[in-house]
Amino acid sequence: MILDTISIINFKNICDEQLTLTPGINCFVGNNGAGKTNILDAVHYLALARSMQTLSDNQVVRHDEESFIIDGKFNSDGGRIEQVVCGYTRRSGKTLKRNGKEYDKLSDHVGHFPIVVVSPADSALISDSAEERRRYINRLISQIGRQYLAALIRYNTTLQERNKLLKTSPSEEMLLIYDQMLDMAATAIYNRRKEVIAQMRPIVEEYYKLLCGGRETIGLDYRSELDSATLGELLLASRQRDFVNEFTSVGVHRDDIIFTIGDYPLRKYGSQGQQKSFLIALKLAEYQLLAESSGERPILLLDDLFDKLDMGRVAELLRLVGGESFGQIMITDCNKHRLQRTLGEAGAEYQLFHVTNGKVEL
Ligand SMILES: Nc1ncnc2c1ncn2[C@@H]1O[C@H](COP(=O)(O)OP(=O)(O)O)[C@@H](O)[C@H]1O
Ligand SMILES: [Mg+2]
Repeated sequence: MILDTISIINFKNICDEQLTLTPGINCFVGNNGAGKTNILDAVHYLALARSMQTLSDNQVVRHDEESFIIDGKFNSDGGRIEQVVCGYTRRSGKTLKRNGKEYDKLSDHVGHFPIVVVSPADSALISDSAEERRRYINRLISQIGRQYLAALIRYNTTLQERNKLLKTSPSEEMLLIYDQMLDMAATAIYNRRKEVIAQMRPIVEEYYKLLCGGRETIGLDYRSELDSATLGELLLASRQRDFVNEFTSVGVHRDDIIFTIGDYPLRKYGSQGQQKSFLIALKLAEYQLLAESSGERPILLLDDLFDKLDMGRVAELLRLVGGESFGQIMITDCNKHRLQRTLGEAGAEYQLFHVTNGKVEL
């Protein structure tokens, strides 16, 4: 998928900009706070109808304005021209149109315009709690297929209802009905998470080797209470405890993904450079999965390219993503000369945009 042109109006510090992009590497350079990440975020809105940062729609409307509108023209790898328009007004909310037709559900858009983001914020995947990693894998698998999101919604609503029920001293029969519903949704979620993580593991290992020269081994392991028993069995075993605590203490809402380096936790034993390389390898594996499921090469956003990486590693990364299996790329960096030198070293062709105070110029 190639984004050919984009028009951005009243989005964060961008007032009114029209850009024509190249199908290859697009670089955005400018000082801190200039609006480079904001441009990538506008592209993310077209692909997934939400911010890539943890921002609400209301927060990304330009201060003192009522609405934003982002309009993009894409060329699909299959040769179709697609127009996507994402608009939001403070009063009446968000609308998303594909080729002039408004979606009934925003979630129908998910998966058709694949996008992968590498950004300094990824480090939260390593440093933060399991919830962050569950959110990541949920978003990824939802983009690959529809049933997963449906199972996830079923699981979460049933879980909430069961927790409410536990506060009202319910009958055993009543609880059993909820346990069966939870068990069904949990099995679907568990199987899919296991499958996708197993698919990703060798790809992450491979990319990590390519980026780091293959010295250390790294690991990516799915950890779930359902590894040892079905959720039905686990719920029965923890029933007394759940009654006392008034919430459901077992299930896939407690799953985690364990990242390791040389068999030790990546968070404690990986250097900053190793952690960053791991995250890039993970994102490139995500890229491959999305490319396979959608039949489109995703757009790759590399925000703050040099974050925690030296020039050698960045050049290695650029050589890697400059290959045939990758498509359009958008890069940001605050140091134009460093970026140009490294792109030159990697032998890459690119288009350079200068960003100043929310304005973009060639
Ligand atoms: N809703 C908003 N309205 C106006 N300006 C905003 C809004 N949200 C963020 N900004 C501005 O955007 C700038 C940050 O842009 P960003 O793209 O993150 O910079 P960088 O070029 O460093 O990536 C800041 O100056 C910030 O004040
Ligand atoms: Mg930035």
